[in-house]
Amino acid sequence: MSQSTSAELHTDPTQFPGVDVYAVAGNPISHSKSPAIHARFAEQSKQKMHYGRLQPEIGEFKAAATSFFAAGGKGMNVTVPFKLDAQAMADALTLRAQLAGAVNTLRMEDGKIFGDNTDGAGLVRDLLAQGIQIQGSRILLLGAGGASRGVLGPLLEQSPQELIIANRSNAKADELVQLFGGLAKSLNVSLRAMTLSALEDAAKAGIFFDLVINATAAGLSNESPISDTVASNIFVPQSFAYDMVYGKVTTFMQQALHRGARVSDGLGMLVEQAADAFLIWRGAKLADAIDSRAVLAELRTS
Ligand code: ATR
Repeated sequence: MSQSTSAELHTDPTQFPGVDVYAVAGNPISHSKSPAIHARFAEQSKQKMHYGRLQPEIGEFKAAATSFFAAGGKGMNVTVPFKLDAQAMADALTLRAQLAGAVNTLRMEDGKIFGDNTDGAGLVRDLLAQGIQIQGSRILLLGAGGASRGVLGPLLEQSPQELIIANRSNAKADELVQLFGGLAKSLNVSLRAMTLSALEDAAKAGIFFDLVINATAAGLSNESPISDTVASNIFVPQSFAYDMVYGKVTTFMQQALHRGARVSDGLGMLVEQAADAFLIWRGAKLADAIDSRAVLAELRTS
């Protein structure tokens, strides 16, 4: 794998005269697939633009983003660990960014920085593209951190019958139920929280789900947040297990496969959230000019 040079990690819009410049900011960022994804969208829709990387030091996101935009940057994607800093520095937030409690897309317009969040919409688009029926379904969302919060609104808007948030500790899951309770009620979705140990008991008594989403950080260390016993009860062959982590078949996905369920990693979510950001920056009229599923297929074979 090639080493990124310092210039590649610090995209400077003044170095690209006459071209609209974007970047993804995170730390670390050298392995991000976002530049390749956006380069393909730009090619498909014939947009003249450059999309690079930015790696601010921890605690220096605001300064780095401010100078990027002051130098003419048009937009920025934001990833770990800066999504809260991005929310804090934006001049205005979309409703979905407020609900998500985090920002993954910044856009400069008329001297103001607007913050949005396309993660949840990206997940929903990927699920629908994979033929998953969300409306009327029974969903189990594992984890109650930022990743879960980011996708809850768009999931609820698809009108599942029920959505259960299961987390190791109960305080964070309860908080999410409080935050999203009004939206769930207005959409007639039964929303509740339980601990992973309560899920253990419920699973023994017989409970299964159409869709189980792993939004915990457990996938990163290749652990599953659920035990094999829980997995053998909650998955049936009609279930779909989605892990937000990508690039490997996680333990969580293996548990679901073992029960004959269908599985997916989160690469499609990455591509779809990027597609949404691209259209925010370059215009919704380009929706038909980009083919996110083709870009996803290319990434899978590269
Ligand atoms: P993020 O913003 O990426 O969601 P986070 O806010 O640190 O990250 O949240 C991580 C989530 O993964 C939390 O729900 C965490 O559970 P706790 O709230 O109980 O800490 C969950 N998590 C992390 N490691 C886990 C593990 N090994 N098993 C189960 N859940 C885990």
